[in-house]
Amino acid sequence: MTFLELAKERYSVRKYKDKPVEQDKIDMILEASRVAPTACNKQPQKIYVVKSKEMKEKLAEVCRFTFGAPVIMVVCYDKNREWQNDLMQGYKSGQTDAAIACTHMMLEAWDLGLGSCWVEWFNPNEVAEALGIPEYEQVQALLPIGYAADDAKPASLHFKCRDNAEMVQEL
Ligand SMILES: Cc1cc2nc3c(=O)[nH]c(=O)nc-3n(C[C@H](O)[C@H](O)[C@H](O)COP(=O)(O)O)c2cc1C
Repeated sequence: MTFLELAKERYSVRKYKDKPVEQDKIDMILEASRVAPTACNKQPQKIYVVKSKEMKEKLAEVCRFTFGAPVIMVVCYDKNREWQNDLMQGYKSGQTDAAIACTHMMLEAWDLGLGSCWVEWFNPNEVAEALGIPEYEQVQALLPIGYAADDAKPASLHFKCRDNAEMVQEL
């Protein structure tokens, strides 16, 4: 499969099999995060791998979009490590860096035959408190990961792609 075929095939999986994800696959997904580009190579990302029943239950209490997935990556960044762009007032790169790392993980998961769903509908302070994440780390996204259920299918939004004629302009 070419990269573009993979990017088009991937969709947000919101229903998972009750089947654990092999550790070597988790390691490869984390490796994809590790090598992601970051501003000034500051590498502020921090990933919590939530696998235990106890922690998944705690997470589900503060976020309704964990979908019973066997593994949930909690994608954070270290606020003391993010790069500051002095040419863009107030801009720091942690959120962007975490998003790139999350994208790498999402696509690597798909390449390994695993589904995932990027989730940001939660209160980051509640997630941090539930998992004991320190104050200097910002929770950016959750990425539930697992084998897609046999009847999992893309939501209708997946098919609503705007045309590049609207989103691209040659200058
Ligand atoms: C930044 C971001 C936040 C998202 N938050 C949620 C979320 O909280 N819950 C959810 O079910 N999906 C969430 N999604 C998934 C999007 O709804 C989904 O990617 C979009 O509708 C396109 O569908 P597709 O991923 O199946 O192609 C999020 C995606 C992104 C990129």
